[in-house]
Amino acid sequence: MAQTSPQTDNADHADSDEFPPGPDGLPVLGNTLQLASDPAAFYDVLEPFGDVVSYRAGGMQFCTLLHPDYIEQVLVTEADRFGKWGLTDFGVDFAAEGILFTEGEQWKRQRTMAQPAFQLDRIRGYGESMTAFAAELAEGWDDGEVVAATDTFSDLTLRILSKSLFDLDLDESDRGAVVTRAVTEFNRWAEPSLATFVLPNWVPTPQRRRLDRSMRAFERLVDDLIAERSAADTDHDDLLAMLLSARGEDGRISDTELRDTMMTFLFAGHETTSLALTYTCYLLAEHPEVADRLRAEIDEVVGDDPVDVLDLPALSFLDRVVTESLRLYPPAYILFREVRKDAEIGGYRIPEGTKLSLPLFRIHRDDRWYDDPDSFRPDRWTDEFEDSLPEYAYFPFGGGPRHCIGMRFARMELKLVLATLVQHCEFEYLGEEPPQPTMGATYQPEGEVSLRVEKR
Ligand code: HEM
Repeated sequence: MAQTSPQTDNADHADSDEFPPGPDGLPVLGNTLQLASDPAAFYDVLEPFGDVVSYRAGGMQFCTLLHPDYIEQVLVTEADRFGKWGLTDFGVDFAAEGILFTEGEQWKRQRTMAQPAFQLDRIRGYGESMTAFAAELAEGWDDGEVVAATDTFSDLTLRILSKSLFDLDLDESDRGAVVTRAVTEFNRWAEPSLATFVLPNWVPTPQRRRLDRSMRAFERLVDDLIAERSAADTDHDDLLAMLLSARGEDGRISDTELRDTMMTFLFAGHETTSLALTYTCYLLAEHPEVADRLRAEIDEVVGDDPVDVLDLPALSFLDRVVTESLRLYPPAYILFREVRKDAEIGGYRIPEGTKLSLPLFRIHRDDRWYDDPDSFRPDRWTDEFEDSLPEYAYFPFGGGPRHCIGMRFARMELKLVLATLVQHCEFEYLGEEPPQPTMGATYQPEGEVSLRVEKR
């Protein structure tokens, strides 16, 4: 993808010592009320200030970056200057020793250990269960049945993930519910609200207590899964086996790191993919001409056989459908970082300690990079278009050293599941309005996304 320069007023400030502009706020609360009352609309307030915009919320100084070049600077070219930021400032104890939140040598060690489970030859082996579980789901639907997409796909992706990485079938017990409950409580808690920003972390609100209870149950579940595997006299060749064999070897991975990393995978790997399936099925239901073309491609390439990983290179329209859906509805819709060493971004001085928000959901719909940005147009993804697009105008899986380790796994899963569903049925969307994404930990739609199944 191509490089361009920022085209807004921000660029005029090159080499200045100024702090970026932003909306006025109240004396102590800053912009907290504005952000908490309608987080999505708050970005409409920020945008006129340029590509580097400051605001204050919850007593913290934030900067939002709205230009692909600045995203690249933070995630890639100057990644060392910016650290992970998220839960600890809010007093949430979730997988702090796991790969998503650790830094420095500890993170490198964990990433190196987990990486082999995501190599191409390895993830190809997971394809069969992805297709089989999706077919089982679709075959179980009756013609005319109404499915609640978010819950249905959440169960499916958790089942695929736990089978692929940990050789477990979490569908067969209440154990899957422990994971989904933790995800639900986490999403509820993460939606910006006055309570999140204003109340001190030690105040035990009912929401925090529920979150804490669900997280402790999740930890106990993962501890049990690890203990069961350690006690079993069976050979496995999966991520858990890799991590277990590293445990204890010169202290390479501690018990807490192992548990937190496993929790991270179960959490980060199923919820995101489930949302992508939900939004893609909604988009297909609302764009029958796209769904028809997709069906024709799958009929021609795969026919009625189970979809195989080796079919995927020939399913180029399917690839574009997935790419375009992740543009419109990026499940990880904002990334956060903290400035660790004073930085200069877009000519502004950004002091150490500032929190950065990188809102994919805005950049992916910026009309400087995308014509008719709100439209679902898989055909926009031609080679020429990709060549002309700034590299970080599209980053659903992040970028640089901390990019999503599960990206290839997720794209493969999305394509195999979608192709299998399309072989079996069509969907009709029953909502009156398009799904409204909320601003929780992920881009969960508000309420249920109901789809009526029409079997083929
Ligand atoms: C559509 C599906 C997915 C999306 C959109 C997605 C998105 C992302 C993004 C944007 C990041 C970077 C976060 C940051 O820079 O702060 C990330 C990191 C991560 N993702 Fe995913 N992800 C998806 C699926 C998966 C799957 C299937 C797995 C595991 C099997 C996974 C595991 C992880 C892990 C462990 C990290 C942390 C990597 C690190 O910091 O080294 N993700 N993901």
